[in-house]
Parts: sequence; structure tokens; C-alpha cells
Amino acid sequence: MTANELLAQLRVNGAIPRHVAIIMDGNGRWARERMLPRPLGHRSGMKSVREVVEGALEAGVEYLSLFAFSQENWQRPPVEISALMSLLEEYIQREADELEGQGVRVRVLGDIDRLAPAARAAVDRVTAQTAHNSKLTLNLFISYGSRAELVRAARRIADEVQAGTLRPEQVDEAAFAERLYTADCPDPDLLIRTSGEQRISNFLLWQLAYTELLISPVLWPDFGRTNLYEAILDFQNRDRRFGRVPA
Ligand code: IPE
Ligand code: IPE
Ligand code: MG
Repeated sequence: MTANELLAQLRVNGAIPRHVAIIMDGNGRWARERMLPRPLGHRSGMKSVREVVEGALEAGVEYLSLFAFSQENWQRPPVEISALMSLLEEYIQREADELEGQGVRVRVLGDIDRLAPAARAAVDRVTAQTAHNSKLTLNLFISYGSRAELVRAARRIADEVQAGTLRPEQVDEAAFAERLYTADCPDPDLLIRTSGEQRISNFLLWQLAYTELLISPVLWPDFGRTNLYEAILDFQNRDRRFGRVPA
């Protein structure tokens, strides 16, 4: 089926996932298969970002979360890190106006204090420029680790309890979730990981509790709108039970 046929089918089926999360993996392997340096794989992955943002807009997804750079990725060689940071700046520079015009609200989630000043400035700029939008929220997870996010939430709660502004019996699941980066987002309905790896790699450990998982063998630079729609179609055929018996 073509992308438009798939889109029509999705609409007939109804039940579009509100929140889709993607672990964008496989750029390095894509480059290696072509005997290219790894940064060219990352560069090629940028067009897949554009594809899934447009696909999400057309399908009516409300939140799109993209894992772009993990806390553990800081351990990669400095040349690869600086290539990724330059690409982040370039992506924001090139796409910010269009994203704004399309109704996309961009947010960057993670330990952004570790970003180089130029990358940090680009992040702050696009966040401010698109803050008023509401059609699609694009969460870019950069310098993000889920365990660090959970520890940060626990520490905030401890500080508030110590300051006397929060009582221990007020600490429930909702209070905890409110102190995560994703505070105002519903949990992801669907998580896609590209390039076939069957692991979470420290992404959204709390938020994925009842998310439907889909592992795609496609390498990220080859992933396009059609692949997104096929994933949503697969999601629409799942039976989400949340621990209950089927209706
Ligand atoms: C995903 O591609 C991008 C980042 C993690 C930054 P990889 O760079 O991990 O590609 P592979 O897994 O080596 O193929
Ligand atoms: C996960 O991919 C992080 C991102 C896609 C940003 P990795 O390539 O870093 O994960 P591992 O090392 O294969 O688990
Ligand atoms: Mg990888």
C-alpha cells in the first residue's frame, strides 16, 4: 500500500495513538553498509525525522517523542558527539520556521545543561519560538537517561518534603509523574524501535509501563512515513488489556 492508502486505512480504523515514541537507531549501520563515515548516517537520519513529523501531523498524532541522544551516548568518540551536536543545530536552524508554521510545539527533554553553548542556544530558541503551538508536541530527548530522570524526580520530592511543602502521604504515582520531564504528556501508546534491537536502552522506563512495543528491522535513515503508518496499523490491531480480562 502507498502512504496515502495506508493513511486512509488508519482513518477508517479510527483509534490513532495519541502519543508515539521512537528510538531512532541504526544510523551507524546504515553508513557502514555504504562504507561511509558514521556522521553521514546521522545526517541521512534527519530526513527520516522530517518524514515522521509530517506523518504524525497528517495522521493526527498529538505527541511525538524522539530519542535522539542518550546520556550514555556521551561516551561515544568526541568527533561523533560534535557531529551530532552540529546536526541538532542545523536541524533547528533549517526546520524551526516550518515547524512553527505547521503548528508543532518543540520541546527538548534531558540534561540540556551538558550541551555546548551553541546547541543550547538553538534549543532555547526553537522552544520559545514554537511554545504557543498545540497541533503536535514534538519531544526531542537529548542527553536523556530514564534512570537519571527518575532519580531527579525522587530528589525533587525529597527536597519538597524536607522544605515542608509536600507531605510523604501526598507522594503517589501522579505526584511522581508530575516531577518527570514528561509531566504534561500522556504515556506513549506506541513505542517504535528501529534497526531490530530488542531493548529499551534507558528510555522512558516509567512512562512505557503499558505501551505497545514495535521493533522494526528498518534502519533509521530508511524509515519513512509509510513505515510509521504501517506501525500505527499494527498498533490498531493490538488488544490492550491493562491487566484486565478482555471485554
Ligand atoms: C542512532 O544510531 C543515533 C544515536 C544513538 C545517536 P546509532 O549511531 O546508534 O547507529 P548504530 O546503532 O550504530 O547502527
Ligand atoms: C539508543 O540507541 C539511543 C538513541 C537512539 C538516541 P543506542 O544505539 O545508543 O543504544 P544501544 O547502545 O544499542 O543500547
Ligand atoms: Mg545504536
